[in-house]
Amino acid sequence: MAAPLRLGVNIDHVATIRNARGGGHPDPVRAAKLAAAAGADSITAHLREDRRHISDADIDRLSSEIALPLNLEMAATAEMVAIALRHLPQACCLVPEKREERTTEGGLNAANQQEALRPFVAKLNAAGIRVALFIEPDHRQLAAAKALRAPVVELHTGAYAEAMGAVRDAELDRLVRAAAAAAALGLECHAGHGLTFDNVGPVAAIAEVVELNIGHFLIGEAVFSGLDSAIRRMRALMEAARAPRAAPRPA
Ligand code: PXP
Repeated sequence: MAAPLRLGVNIDHVATIRNARGGGHPDPVRAAKLAAAAGADSITAHLREDRRHISDADIDRLSSEIALPLNLEMAATAEMVAIALRHLPQACCLVPEKREERTTEGGLNAANQQEALRPFVAKLNAAGIRVALFIEPDHRQLAAAKALRAPVVELHTGAYAEAMGAVRDAELDRLVRAAAAAAALGLECHAGHGLTFDNVGPVAAIAEVVELNIGHFLIGEAVFSGLDSAIRRMRALMEAARAPRAAPRPA
């Protein structure tokens, strides 16, 4: 039977809305508390180099006020690693970051940056932080994660989420094969980016994937139905996709 599937709720875009006007409303920490009450397993926040949404003060408060595990998404830089070592979140997900991008476009090219990443992964590992690399569903990247001793990979589901028809089927197939390869290498497998009510099912059904991190859609949907309802519905869809299929009755 597949392992339980956890939901990490990414609250970055509550901060995006707050920052559109300055001030303190809406408060991402309040959203994190609501997410916890709605059944989230962890809170994910991306502290970007340009602080466009989550701020250092948000990370301080998320670390001290939230009972759920914090998954800190960040670029692999000395500044970010120092912040992580100060706060000791349960998990850190290393992501590529470009100033001009609107969101995290593509996974980390761990295969080409092994020497640069190695000391950062080692420092986070030594501090007891569970390190994930956000990578494309690609065997070279999985092998690099293994070589870097990162215990976790998060597969970038953006290409799957944006595709349609046969291209989407092919992207799903890449995710399925990468998740199996991750498990065979002894890597814990997570997935995320661009997941919605409509496309979460096939990813949630991949038995080796044990955590999904979902943000933008949930915060957008919360405008219409409330955050509690959006999270509960997402969980229900994840659980339905995960449920063992009934065995066909013998003829
Ligand atoms: N996982 C990682 C590593 C990400 O960088 C993001 C986007 O911040 C997500 C998951 C969530 O993506 P989305 O906001 O599209 O649900």
